[in-house]
Amino acid sequence: MTAGPILVFDSGVGGLSVAAALRRCLPGAALAYACDNAMLPYGRREDAWLVRRILAVCEAAVAASRCSGLVVACNTASTLALDALRERLRVPVVGTVPAIKPAAALSRSRHFGLLATSATVSRPYTLRLIEAFAADCIVTRVAADSLVSEAERRLAGEAPDPEALRAALAPLWEDPDLDTVVLGCTHFPLLHEALATAAPRPVRWIDSSEAIARRTAQVVTEVATQQGPGASFVTAADPRLTAGLARYGFAEPRLLALD
Ligand code: DGL
Repeated sequence: MTAGPILVFDSGVGGLSVAAALRRCLPGAALAYACDNAMLPYGRREDAWLVRRILAVCEAAVAASRCSGLVVACNTASTLALDALRERLRVPVVGTVPAIKPAAALSRSRHFGLLATSATVSRPYTLRLIEAFAADCIVTRVAADSLVSEAERRLAGEAPDPEALRAALAPLWEDPDLDTVVLGCTHFPLLHEALATAAPRPVRWIDSSEAIARRTAQVVTEVATQQGPGASFVTAADPRLTAGLARYGFAEPRLLALD
């Protein structure tokens, strides 16, 4: 079998924050991108439906891209469907989970925040991570689904709305001791600067992208060399995505055929 690209999958443009980390960690590797923008956002969808949908889209995208490995660059999908994906697909699958462990290691005050989609903040997977790695910390979990659309707009070239950012972050600031915030949705690092500006005081912002890139380099060992822009796939035609994808090294998106 010939080596293919590493396929990065998300509901929308959030996976581009992980693609950027992959390019830094594996500069010569070919990447492909797939997003289920027809069903964005995932964060408020019903679990059983979401598992079926994620399997269908990832199966189609893996076949279309002929990839060597799949990076599920979406916390909402990974905290729900990683086992099912690994059972179904023949390529190695790397997932994304909120950076609870590094946050617990770095927080001096032992109080940090988790900013993610409503699905991710309440998933048993996330609660188990907190219990296993941050049992001695207070973890303020904040559902911030509105930031997903702010990040989508940002990639389409629009400025994020500072008022929407401030409102989404507000529950984090109730305790002045909170010193670290986990960006538990891959869309949120795309807003990193705007979030830091909207915060009333400096805190440490942590995301999982560099760790995912390092893990991918260990797990996906046979990868094609990058030659020109990587292929990209969408589930709904949207011309606003083209320029944003191009900035991250991806070609004009093609519509993914789903069964
Ligand atoms: N980027 C996805 C994540 O990491 C979620 C966005 C959505 O709600 O679709 O959780």
